[in-house]
This record gives sequence, structure tokens and C-alpha cells, in this order.
Amino acid sequence: MKLLAILIPAIILAAGPAKSQEKYRPAFHFSPKEKWMNDPNGMVFHKGVYHLFYQYYPGATVWGPMHWGHATSTDLVRWNREPVALYPDTLGYIFSGSIVVDKDNTAGFGKAGQTPLVAIFTHHQPELEKQMTGKHQYQSLAYSLDDGKSWLKYAGNPVLPNPGIVDFRDPKVMWYAPSKKWIMTLATKDRITFYESPNLKDWTRLSDFGQNLGGHGGVWECPDLFTLDYNGKKIWVLLVSINPGGPNGGSVTQYFLGDFNGKTFTPIDKETRWLDYGPDNYAGVTWSNTGNRKIFLGWMSNWLYGQTVPTEKWRSAMTIPRDLRIKSVNGKLYVASSPVAELARLNHSPVTLKNFIANSDTSLSSILKVKDEKNRIHLSGPAIGGYALVFSNEDGEEVVVSYDETKNKYSIDRSKSGKVNFDPLFTKLAYCPRLATDKAFSLVAIVDKASVEVFADGGLSVMTAIYFPNKPLNKVSIRVKKPIRFSEVKGYAIF
Ligand code: FRU
Repeated sequence: MKLLAILIPAIILAAGPAKSQEKYRPAFHFSPKEKWMNDPNGMVFHKGVYHLFYQYYPGATVWGPMHWGHATSTDLVRWNREPVALYPDTLGYIFSGSIVVDKDNTAGFGKAGQTPLVAIFTHHQPELEKQMTGKHQYQSLAYSLDDGKSWLKYAGNPVLPNPGIVDFRDPKVMWYAPSKKWIMTLATKDRITFYESPNLKDWTRLSDFGQNLGGHGGVWECPDLFTLDYNGKKIWVLLVSINPGGPNGGSVTQYFLGDFNGKTFTPIDKETRWLDYGPDNYAGVTWSNTGNRKIFLGWMSNWLYGQTVPTEKWRSAMTIPRDLRIKSVNGKLYVASSPVAELARLNHSPVTLKNFIANSDTSLSSILKVKDEKNRIHLSGPAIGGYALVFSNEDGEEVVVSYDETKNKYSIDRSKSGKVNFDPLFTKLAYCPRLATDKAFSLVAIVDKASVEVFADGGLSVMTAIYFPNKPLNKVSIRVKKPIRFSEVKGYAIF
């Protein structure tokens, strides 16, 4: 009996790549077993385990009173579903936020040498919201003394009350060693406000950033502040999601590069940069406590249609985790994203073709032995020309990833991808400029049943899109107007 009691929850909670029989259920992307999920929250690496918490409503497949769901992984690609970590309470729903490892026990939650994990999140009080005071979102704490398994809310919540700013949320907290302070990066309507604290409980406002910079087509949400090394220098990166206002409509993540001196963020220039031009990568942030490595993950959906997509039991998945790096294009810096190397563990039956010439419509399915709709295709070439990578089925449903030479843009066309009429904007062609200027090119497309993630030119041009074919898109081909020579075409099955 006892053994059975241990085994059953383990079987129910396992979310490994093998379990993907449901239509549209991704195999190697995290998705909740059932019900509604949005933003990734509280991502922290602790004692060899990657924790992924997320906005979760266990009562329906649409947004509702927010909880923090929880999943864990030791390799970023095989996820175990864990019990819900945080439930709404009298102070409100549990909105997005972050987790830090409080190694020095600055908040005093640690007992008998245990290292506390401290969650800093937004409480959203729906009753107060109705009173229209603008004070219904405030920041609170919860802590875990058993490495993230169970959580206690701090009795002194909220730790940062709302001064009357209607959108006041999504704290991302990091340790800033030079001043020995915690820095909170908070989205405050149309800007970012930085706060500092010695103990995670008492917060002092430092500065504002961005009211006249970047995209302002929608509210600012889910920021992140961290450094990336570039040529021995530290570049500060500030991620800010906005909804709506993306270059292709709806929700999207922009970023700023610059310097943070412990008090203020100074950008290197006034350009608005987008982390991923595709329609389906939102509210993403990076894992805490991963040292110099910065690993990003986003919600693979869009507020335009996230609540109406045609999955039955659950709604939405996360992107694959991505490593972030700084790259320079003619002296101008950008953040490039690439799929984490750990994903290669799921690659199988690689086929490599050298000096492959594509003419008009060239099927790759049989040569690459790609028959499943979970695969990874790499294309690279010495001289970029127009081409399209097409994922399709026998009914003519297709998702087309293209590079258009005349426009110098990549695009994803999902207008004929199957079920599309749950939102009028779903069929809109999504564009991404090619930032790289060299002739040599590369493109990696990662497909997992109902999504494609495209990383072109070493992750300088990135696009993510979801889709819902009536039958699996189990064919891959290359379409070209003029013959094009790929120095290499590589395909893997992923499972
Ligand atoms: C972003 C967001 C956050 C908020 C959460 C609520 O998608 O709107 O700003 O904390 O979702 O679920």
C-alpha cells in the first residue's frame, strides 16, 4: 500500500518527453497537466535543481485567481510536475515574481543553518481593485526551508505597499554585491522602478527608468535585470515585457543594454531591441543563481489569443530554455538567444547533408528521416538567398519559416496551419529583421508538435510561434525561387 501511495503521485507528476499522446501536447516543452498557465515565475537554480514556478489557475483553462504552479528539472528539458506552491490568500492572488537564495539569511527566515529560498511576488487584491484606488497590487514574501517543496507566507506582508500606481508588479530581485543590497526591478505601469533593501523586507525607492524610451504600445510587465559578459566587460541587460505593442502585434519582450550602478540604469543608446520577434514568447525572465550563465524561458503564447487556443485540457506551454549572450554586429551590441545545449540530449538519428542544393520544392522528410513532428533542423550556407523551410501535412496545412532576400527579413507564416480562426490576428505574417550582415547564414528550427522556435544567425534573429494543425505536420521541405546551396543541412528527431 505504502509503495503504491509513493508510486502513484510520481507517475501522475512525471512530465517527461515520452508522455505526449494528447493532440498538441508538446513533448519537450513544459506544459501543465491541466488548466491555465501563463508567466514563468520564481525561476531559481538551487542544489542542482532548476525550479520553474508559473502563473497557474487550477480552476479553469482560462485566466483566474492566480496561484504559483511548480515544476523541477535537473537538465532543463525533462520536467517533473510538483504540487502547487503558493495559493491566493486574503491579500490577493499570487501574481508574478522571483525567488532568491538568501545565502546569508539577510531576511532572517533561516533556522538552524538552513538556507532559505525567498519568493518576492505581487499580491493582487481583486476586491480592492474594484474600489479603483490604484493600490491593489503590492509586493510580498514567502519562504521555503525545504529547498522549495513547501512555502510559508511572511506574516509582515506586504513588504512594499502601493503608492497609488495602478500597475505595480512583477518584482525581479537580485543581489548587488558592491552595495551589499538586494535590488528589486519592478514594472510600474509605463516604466521600471528600482528599489533596494538590506533584508528583502524594507525597501527604498532608488530611481525610475524608461518612461521616454522603448516600446510603449502597452503596459510594462515582468522585468529582469542581470549582466552578461562581453569581451571581459559586464553589460547590464534590462528585459521588459510589454502587452500589447509587439512589432508583430500583441505581447512581446523588449530589452535595453546599458550600465547599472546600484542606483540607476543608463542605456548605451536609445534603440528599442526585441528579444524574440515571434508572436509567442512573453513574460520571459532568467533563472536566478546560475552564476555567469544566463538561461531564459518565456510563456509560449500571447495575450491576444492565449485563452482561446484550441487545446482542451490545458492552456499553453513554456518556450525551450535559451542561453543568452551578447553579440556584436558591426560594433552594435545585441542579446542573442540559443537553445540550451542540454536539449541536444534529446536529439536522435542525426542526418547531415553537405553541400545540399535545393531546387524549387525539395522534400527533406525522407532524406532527413524526419517523420515525426518533433524535430530539429539546422540549415547553414555560405551565401544567403531566399528560402523557405516548410512544415506540412498531407492535407496541405503548413507552417512556413522564410528568409526574404529583398526585404532582408525572416518570417513565419501560419495562415494555413490548420485551426486558425479563434483570433483574427493569429494568421498575420510575423516578421523579424535579419540583423547579421555577413553573407554566411545559419538557421535552427525546433519543432515540437504545435510550436516552432527559430534561431537564425547564431540567435541574433529569433522567432517563436505556436499553431494547431488538424493532422500532425510530419513533412519537412525547402522551397526556393532560385536554387540555393546549403553548406550543411542537418536534421534530428527529438524525443
Ligand atoms: C504578464 C502578467 C503579469 C502579472 C501576471 C498575472 O503576463 O500580466 O504582469 O503578474 O501576468 O497573471
